[in-house]
Amino acid sequence: MKLLVTGGAGYVGSVCAARLVESGHEVVVVDDLSTGHADAVPDGCKFVQADIAEAASGLLAESFDGVLHFAAKSLVGESMENPQKYWQGNVVTSLRLLDAMREHGTPRLVFSSTAATYGEPDSELITEDSSTRPTNTYGATKLAIDHAISSYASAHGIGAVSLRYFNVAGAHGSIGERHTVETHLIPIVLQVALGQREQVQIFGEDWPTEDGTCVRDYIHVTDLADAHLLALRNAQAGQHRIYNLGNGTGFSVKQVIDTCREVTGHPIPAKVAPRRAGDPATLVASSRAAREELGWRPERADLGVIVRDAWEFTRARHQA
Ligand code: UFG
Repeated sequence: MKLLVTGGAGYVGSVCAARLVESGHEVVVVDDLSTGHADAVPDGCKFVQADIAEAASGLLAESFDGVLHFAAKSLVGESMENPQKYWQGNVVTSLRLLDAMREHGTPRLVFSSTAATYGEPDSELITEDSSTRPTNTYGATKLAIDHAISSYASAHGIGAVSLRYFNVAGAHGSIGERHTVETHLIPIVLQVALGQREQVQIFGEDWPTEDGTCVRDYIHVTDLADAHLLALRNAQAGQHRIYNLGNGTGFSVKQVIDTCREVTGHPIPAKVAPRRAGDPATLVASSRAAREELGWRPERADLGVIVRDAWEFTRARHQA
């Protein structure tokens, strides 16, 4: 297939673009490099540096078989302080992309949605039928886009799939997480192991969980990328399907730090700090629908494997 990948210079987008090329697809990456890196665009992709809202129509005039839409602003804290950046950058850009797809009859869309669309969960295991009450602007913008996709899919015959990611981590060989401002737990802990930080802060030890620290569902970025290939293959004209992607097992912040200690052999000093605003205690996915309907089989569900791949990537970049 000939595919347009928006945000293919970012973490998840670049890993998916690599997987698509490995699977024999023709890939054009469009990215404005506001947070991505030109050298993260995998070999074998054509790269266009452009504002997606402005470039979408011109690009899709070339007749594509599908779009994988990763480009987004994705910092929860920033979304609360600067909502305009998120409504404009996420929702308005996505509407322009959907309009370009409608205009040129692009048949398939795979969209990067998020567990943040659910907000505080009603139950420990989140399904696609769980209520969607986002607690931050980032999640609200992604939910709004999901609604828009449903309307466009049924009105204009687009075959669309939204994938709601839980906590993505790990690396795909030499492609991994490279945020300028790092806020995610595993990369931060590995920075301590590398000596780039003195210690990791544990945001709260008084949560209603077994060891008092927050529990999350970590998913390997390569397994996540594989779900996109399956979604693309299973997209049905005129339908919008939504799938959670996680491993169905929760790990606490302390368990993550312990795993990082085992993998790196570093003592990784940790200090308990106050809770972080907006954090739910526990977020764990039911991905039964993705397994049953898409045939998704995550092969790297083990937290040790996820951390090992992230560590190999981090160490290699540090030494380079
Ligand atoms: N944490 C710490 N110390 C740190 C960093 C994080 O204790 O230095 C804790 C957080 O409080 C949280 C857990 O580690 O309990 C995981 O935090 P991350 O920042 O790695 O990830 P989040 O669960 O906050 O968010 C991620 C994505 C969001 C997405 C969400 C959906 O970053 O974009 O998953 O579940 F919306």
